[in-house]
Amino acid sequence: MQLRTERLLLREYTANDFDAVHAFASDQRIAKFVEWGPNTTADTKTFLETCLVAQSDPNRANFTLAVTVPPGDPIGSVGLSLTGGRGDLGYVIAPGLWGRGYATEAAESLLRFGMEELGLSEITATCRPGNVASARVLEKIGMSRNGLRKADKLIRGQWQDSLVFSVSA
Ligand SMILES: CC(C)(COP(=O)(O)OP(=O)(O)OC[C@H]1O[C@@H](n2cnc3c(N)ncnc32)[C@H](O)[C@@H]1OP(=O)(O)O)[C@@H](O)C(=O)NCCC(=O)NCCS
Repeated sequence: MQLRTERLLLREYTANDFDAVHAFASDQRIAKFVEWGPNTTADTKTFLETCLVAQSDPNRANFTLAVTVPPGDPIGSVGLSLTGGRGDLGYVIAPGLWGRGYATEAAESLLRFGMEELGLSEITATCRPGNVASARVLEKIGMSRNGLRKADKLIRGQWQDSLVFSVSA
């Protein structure tokens, strides 16, 4: 599958994307508010393998797509993981390209795909309270903040709270 936006092509990962993915996934700056990363080469290999397996799963529950500015290599990742009829949204953009609206554009497109094409009843996303950029992305794509989960994520040895955002059909 692939999704087009004004500036972006969200497409399936291929094994050839290793270098581009590892460049942003191994950057310390992406890891401040997330459980994963900075990636080792083994982490990035496992990530890509998981994406490739998901693509051919007839009961696909993981829609993790490469964010590209065509015809370029991946500059980030956007993902929707399904549990039943609900989805959980996440994203990362290469630090050198933050602040250009790419996360908003990518997340909005995958959110719409989830609601309109997959027919999900609800999509949620969480971010750490200090992750102002991520909370802003979620607000901008029309998700509402409706909760706080205390001590929700263990991030490099410290339990951190999560703001919970959602949108329903
Ligand atoms: C969160 C992330 C994906 C945002 O990517 P991005 O492409 O820079 O996002 P956008 O440009 O679409 O939008 C960012 C918004 O946050 C705002 N913002 C960014 N940093 C901010 C800050 N420190 N304080 C206030 N607002 C901030 C921007 O101004 C923009 O809002 P605006 O359009 O109203 O001005 C990126 O920072 C990232 O990859 N972080 C690491 C991984 C991560 O935390 N992922 C989310 C997990 S919950």
